[in-house]
Amino acid sequence: MIAGGRSRVLLMHPILDPGPAILAEAAEVISYPPDRPLDEANIRQAAEGCIGIVSQLMDPIRETVLSSPGLRCVSNVAVGFDNIDLAAATAHKVMVTNTPGVLDDATADFAFTLLMATARRVVEADNFTRSAGFHGWAIDMMLGQDVYGATLGIIGIGRIGRGVAHRAKGFNMRVLYYDPQPLPQEAEQQLNATRSSLDRLIAESDFISVHVPLTKETLHLLSTAQFNAMKRNAILINTSRGPVVDEAALVEALKARKLAGAGLDVYEREPAVHPQLIPMPNVVLAPHIASATVRTRSEMSAMAARNMATAVRGGRPPNLVNPEAKR
Ligand code: GLV
Repeated sequence: MIAGGRSRVLLMHPILDPGPAILAEAAEVISYPPDRPLDEANIRQAAEGCIGIVSQLMDPIRETVLSSPGLRCVSNVAVGFDNIDLAAATAHKVMVTNTPGVLDDATADFAFTLLMATARRVVEADNFTRSAGFHGWAIDMMLGQDVYGATLGIIGIGRIGRGVAHRAKGFNMRVLYYDPQPLPQEAEQQLNATRSSLDRLIAESDFISVHVPLTKETLHLLSTAQFNAMKRNAILINTSRGPVVDEAALVEALKARKLAGAGLDVYEREPAVHPQLIPMPNVVLAPHIASATVRTRSEMSAMAARNMATAVRGGRPPNLVNPEAKR
């Protein structure tokens, strides 16, 4: 619907500069009330009369919302779009866009940050030192695990997975990867990465880092059977989506010492974190911040705003994930 001659766009949450200016140039921007619950009925109501919604990963954008008359585009400020029912969007001819590419390096950096922090017990050591527990050097204090020369298993060798493999070269790691789509031989050589079955990767890796999108196929890709098969010194890193890992099974496996630790940026029921993870000193927890650098989040905001502005003007957004929906 046109208000005062301008198309309306619903901005679910604030975004960073230059995103707001790009949006404002293309449309009248309505902000979702910050205190309103993020459920489908409320979002549908707020989206009434809007041609577009600029959403984020915590917004459930499903049939109820996507069937809103006049809605043409949902621009997600994220690379993942599992919060959006893509089939319903396509059926209603609603274009869905995401922000691929710009967050690869920040996310790969953060996967490595969690890997290092967990392996070398950085958070535990920091807490210990701050709480005046350090009374002198000791040969057996805070012993961690070697990263240099260890085996790293990468589940999902897309752009972010490849970024992690690239960083692992500097640590002389042996890299195994699991992905239905093999890398070209040249890329395998360049990254020093060997394709493997999931079973072999799980059995041989000292560190396992997850980089797959959340789909029906990847839901609980890692559960009890996989934790049982891990090396006892293995450390799991997840910067992808929480539900790829069966969180309750992970808690049980950590309690039973089936693996040594975990570095987690994402959770199965965000923002809830499994309460039994909280007291575990061998687990490093972050609040879904892998892409959270000033530059990356600004670029994601700009990209999402440009996608929406293009759609509002009747064009084909650069990062359209369902081209079939373009009218
Ligand atoms: C963050 O998790 C994203 O998908 O961009």
